[in-house]
Amino acid sequence: MKLEKVACLEELSDRKLLRLKGPGYDLCIVLTDNKVHAFANRCPHTGARLHASRVRHNVLTCSHHLAQFDLCSGSVLTFPMEGLDVEKTGPLVVFDAEVDADGWVSVDLGEIELYGRGPVR
Ligand code: FES
Repeated sequence: MKLEKVACLEELSDRKLLRLKGPGYDLCIVLTDNKVHAFANRCPHTGARLHASRVRHNVLTCSHHLAQFDLCSGSVLTFPMEGLDVEKTGPLVVFDAEVDADGWVSVDLGEIELYGRGPVR
């Protein structure tokens, strides 16, 4: 595990996605129910970006075909409404995130680098 500071808690407002993009990674972080979640900015359905999606409690709803994902586990809660390979849609890639006593949000960048080697559609 390689935790890196990526944002300050003050930058996050409840349920509003913050996109973080850098060499080898593109992810979103969001604060909901007093917990910070981090996940890949790529929908497992078609690879579309997720930074314009909606979050309510621990559920992310993709704005493209309305698939829903659990932000804690990444598991699919509701499959996409349409499109190719609906039933083959896998889990959302989620990353470990934590907030320290000074309000810094850290994410496990080791896994982000690993994920960043995959194809970007
Ligand atoms: S691209 Fe996200 S549900 Fe289809």
